[in-house]
Amino acid sequence: SKIHVTTTINGDQVEYLCDPRETLLDVLRDRLGLTGAKEGCGTGDCGACSVTLDGRLVCSCLVLGAEAEGHDITTIEGMATGEELHPLQQKFIEYAALQCGICTPGILVATEALLKKNPNPTETEVRYWLAGNLCRCTGYDKIIRAVMDTAA
Ligand code: FES
Ligand code: FES
Repeated sequence: SKIHVTTTINGDQVEYLCDPRETLLDVLRDRLGLTGAKEGCGTGDCGACSVTLDGRLVCSCLVLGAEAEGHDITTIEGMATGEELHPLQQKFIEYAALQCGICTPGILVATEALLKKNPNPTETEVRYWLAGNLCRCTGYDKIIRAVMDTAA
């Protein structure tokens, strides 16, 4: 039988039905049409599915949809303000810090969470924080430069 969940996603109260074993990532993508978070691995290794849960960075492939009950989720779709991109998103474009883009939503969500905790990180801190977000395309340097320039 399905579980009824009431949660907050990007500031809006949302209700859905999900299977007991269904991941939050699958709920977001398949039930709610929020396809920004990506499934790279499904096992917590790549960070492409990153969202925040009550402000804490999590891999949504490792959270059950049912566990979102009563919590506050933010996804990449909540990052821009209307038509205006978040400064991090603008810097990623400026620095061409993406190629295929599969890793990008997760990296942006993860980086925003870092900058909320630590608005002026060192490059080492940024690299350490993003160690759980894999990118198979860019070689990371443009990503790091975009983040450092946003933080500057
Ligand atoms: Fe969740 Fe890779 S899809 S960490
Ligand atoms: Fe392709 Fe990062 S831009 S995986």
